[in-house]
Amino acid sequence: MTTFPKSETFPVNIVRSKIMGPNPLKLCEELLEGAEIPHGSVVLDLGSGTGITSAMLAREYGLFTYAVDLWSDPGDNMRFFEELGLTNRQICPVKADASQGLPFATGFFDAVVSIDSYNYFGRDPQYLGGRLLPYVKHDAKLYLAIPGMVRDCHDVPPSELLLSWTPKQLEYMHDIDWWRAMIEPVEGVEIVEMRELRCHEEAWADWLACDNEYAIGDRASMEAGAGKLLNSIGIVLRKL
Ligand SMILES: C[S@@+](CC[C@H](N)C(=O)[O-])C[C@H]1O[C@@H](n2cnc3c(N)ncnc32)[C@H](O)[C@@H]1O
Repeated sequence: MTTFPKSETFPVNIVRSKIMGPNPLKLCEELLEGAEIPHGSVVLDLGSGTGITSAMLAREYGLFTYAVDLWSDPGDNMRFFEELGLTNRQICPVKADASQGLPFATGFFDAVVSIDSYNYFGRDPQYLGGRLLPYVKHDAKLYLAIPGMVRDCHDVPPSELLLSWTPKQLEYMHDIDWWRAMIEPVEGVEIVEMRELRCHEEAWADWLACDNEYAIGDRASMEAGAGKLLNSIGIVLRKL
């Protein structure tokens, strides 16, 4: 088991009440291993959900973090940040639809982090070049963690997967080759790395231990062995 010193500063009860999928703190911390983002950099946490990774980026990495999300309420997220001792000088919740472009100036962000969210809007081939890269500085890195498949199997989805997800929901998950083929043709960005994240099983175990209806719904597939078909994919890109 890997240790996650930054993730583990968050009490388990808070993590369980906030996460919306495989432990995003651990996915984020592994993804950022070796990343050199200077303190005070302005980072976009895209699809931040209830803001737990945003809080980690602000508090543990010292980054000025914009927690941008569609489904969550920015007021609820700000109250959560304040409970953790964070202020509006460190973190800013924003409600926005990434697929429509973001309410920021061109070249605003020093870095982008997106955990368990990019697969919702980033499957559109026009998305990265047209609606995300414009807001990122030249030479800045984008760190994406997405739930993936070891091998795409959408033509005949294995029965284990269908215990928890419909074929339409499975469309949100793809393998590394699929993501590479999606991103490689995009101009103005290079792929620094794409890899399976080591914390996949641990992140899933943390999620399945939650008692919300979505985690409970995911248990059927995982208990039937679907875990071997799934992975967590880490992608690092650099804007040229
Ligand atoms: C599975 S949750 C993950 C949330 C959080 N990153 C985490 O790991 O706990 C997916 C998130 O993607 C966000 N999302 C989906 N489509 C979006 C869009 N078009 N623009 C912004 N956020 C979006 C949702 O609001 C949701 O919070």
